[in-house]
Amino acid sequence: MERTFVMIKPDAVQRGLVGEIIQRFERRGLKIVAMKLVHVSRELAEKHYEVHKERPFYPGLIAYITSGPVVAMVLEGTHAIQAARNTMGATNPVDAAPGSIRADFGLEIGRNLVHGSDGPETAAFEIGLWFGDEIPSWDRDVDRWIFE
Ligand code: RTP
Ligand code: MG
Repeated sequence: MERTFVMIKPDAVQRGLVGEIIQRFERRGLKIVAMKLVHVSRELAEKHYEVHKERPFYPGLIAYITSGPVVAMVLEGTHAIQAARNTMGATNPVDAAPGSIRADFGLEIGRNLVHGSDGPETAAFEIGLWFGDEIPSWDRDVDRWIFE
């Protein structure tokens, strides 16, 4: 079963949207296999967003992601990576499909509420970075009604 790393960013935590956002992933059928509230250090933020180091928005992005606690989680399910990203919506909330998290709660790219891994290699890297290697799965009673 595929796994992805999802982070509820500081703006969403400050705005009291943690429950609302988790509910959307849960309702879709994605299974939470790890979760924690994290005060993100500069070091962790820089490792996480290493790929964007040379981009003009990088300093603002690091300031944003370290500006308050985040909720980090690992979600598991069929096509978890793409399903989570579609539930989040396009990077810029103004382009996100109505019904997605970023469209329903956001207006600006620099306050886009959530992060989700963008591919299998990124997911493996981010899960290891935030949670380490050994995350057990668990049997959910409704699994057979969600996974064929
Ligand atoms: P994320 O990594 O946060 O899930 O978002 P993403 O894949 O949809 O977008 P990505 O290109 O990886 O950008 C990472 C985050 O950087 C901020 N950003 N700001 N001002 C800008 O032009 C700009 N571009 C990107 C956003 O917070 C974006 O989520
Ligand atoms: Mg990204």
